[in-house]
Amino acid sequence: MKALVLAGGAGTRLRPITHTSAKQLVPVANKAVLFYGLESIAAAGITDVGVIVGDTADEIRAAVGDGSAFGLDVTYIPQDKPLGLAHAVLIARDWLGDDDFVMYLGDNFIVGGITDLVDEFRRTRPDAQILLTRVSDPRAFGVAELDAAGQVVALEEKPEHPKSDLALVGVYLLTPAVHDAVRAISPSRRGELEITHALQHLIDTGAAVRSTIVKGYWKDTGNVVDMLEVNRTVLETLERRIDGQVDDASETIGRVVVERGARVVNSRIVGPVVIGAGTEVVDSYVGPFTSVAENCRIADSELEFSIVLRESSIEGVGRIEESLIGRHVEVTPAPVVPSAHRLVLGDHSKVQIHT
Ligand code: G1P
Repeated sequence: MKALVLAGGAGTRLRPITHTSAKQLVPVANKAVLFYGLESIAAAGITDVGVIVGDTADEIRAAVGDGSAFGLDVTYIPQDKPLGLAHAVLIARDWLGDDDFVMYLGDNFIVGGITDLVDEFRRTRPDAQILLTRVSDPRAFGVAELDAAGQVVALEEKPEHPKSDLALVGVYLLTPAVHDAVRAISPSRRGELEITHALQHLIDTGAAVRSTIVKGYWKDTGNVVDMLEVNRTVLETLERRIDGQVDDASETIGRVVVERGARVVNSRIVGPVVIGAGTEVVDSYVGPFTSVAENCRIADSELEFSIVLRESSIEGVGRIEESLIGRHVEVTPAPVVPSAHRLVLGDHSKVQIHT
């Protein structure tokens, strides 16, 4: 069995964090969302991985390399334009050969991995197996309609009036039966060859399409609350590890990771918290469910239930909670007079000011 990992895409659901980088590289607990996917593929016993890349190919190649860091053998398959998930299957046809494969969308996060699902698929081997999860706004997803017996009867891509709250998760277990299906369909309203339509074609032609409902699912839809929540879930599984320096005046409590080259000075860190390599925490408090990425500086401040991406600094600003702070951001106090907020915010930024 092989894996086809999709790491292209135009990233139209832009928000500050994905303006400047591939959506598959958004970090959760200081690790790119794509890496969790690659790790789950390796854990399921799959080593042959084709990675579909688009405009952000260089960034993805730099991050994943030849895959050996994950125990994988990675082949890159360029997609000139983001013409859809079924189009990705189409262009990967030669590489896929006649193998079964798992198609994994690199911006999807499945808590608990895919080993059980892959094992079940290998055992039962339907023509295709899809994963579903209940979501609050199914209009942003492919949506499945099941009959009373739980069989998939219809699939719709981003319907205006969804027939259920069961969204298609971006992990599909497929057999070579899908190749005829992706050739049989036409582009959708958004001009893409939809895997949803290829699956519907399989259903219509009498193929066995099974579904499994999963919990613990996240994808980058630009929703900060959800992102903080998935970060929290992953931090919960952290094992304490102090590879950086923590001075005697500091305290680290519970599941705290201080990466190599990080420095904690006269500060209190209450886990679960991860402090990235090269980051300094000075005269500060970092509270539960916080990820601070590499080469940041947190000084004279308090930070809790937040994500800070690399090379950012937060200095002398009191307490920050429930926040997502991008890369190369500076948060500093304003001068005493005039008493005003001074903001330089990128497109799609959101700020809540305490008045
Ligand atoms: C794609 C699929 C959709 C699925 C989603 C999961 O959407 O078309 O059916 O629910 O992935 O991530 P897209 O990311 O292309 O908008």
